[in-house]
Amino acid sequence: MDEYLTRLRGAADLDALADIVQTCRRCSLRDGCQHVVFGEGNPKAQLVICGEGPGAEEDRLGRPFVGRAGQLLDQILAACGFERSQHTFILNVVKCRPPGNRTPAHEEIRICLPNLRMQVHMLQPKIMILMGNCAAQNILQTDLGISQLRGQWVQKGNMWFMPTYHPAALFHRPQLKKPVWDDFQQVVDKYRALINPDHRAPHC
Ligand code: URA
Repeated sequence: MDEYLTRLRGAADLDALADIVQTCRRCSLRDGCQHVVFGEGNPKAQLVICGEGPGAEEDRLGRPFVGRAGQLLDQILAACGFERSQHTFILNVVKCRPPGNRTPAHEEIRICLPNLRMQVHMLQPKIMILMGNCAAQNILQTDLGISQLRGQWVQKGNMWFMPTYHPAALFHRPQLKKPVWDDFQQVVDKYRALINPDHRAPHC
């Protein structure tokens, strides 16, 4: 096993893992970006949200989902009674911005996936929202597209996965708002069933 993976697997906690991931130089994406965007939120959150990879604003600030798509995500979460720093941990499949926001290449994803796997292993969420093709296909290990996957729970062990469209897709395909809303309603229902029966959601 390469030395990086040995260090990754030896990380004592999420902070130690973040320090190791910051040193990653295992693919060329790091050469073209400003920050390794590890992810952020409540390390005890039972709800984890996964996107594709950092965009320009995320790369500039070193934080996930802080650009336009992130603002929309925050609004959807708020409508569901979730506050990102309290109820969620937000991360991405790849931690470094692909140039020009292109889709990460298979090889870049393959190299970066151990980072995500260790994050999920440490966080042990009960529910994970997979936003877009990249997150859904790589985490569920399927070639099916997000239109086929969305809206249906996948259970693996103690974890429940809800694939849905990426919020950025809603900007150019507004007809996807309704299915995304339906999917988040299912997340609220599951959150009440598994985590907090008293969870209050203003619009669900
Ligand atoms: N899109 C993503 O997939 N992730 C981010 O962090 C921001 C935009």
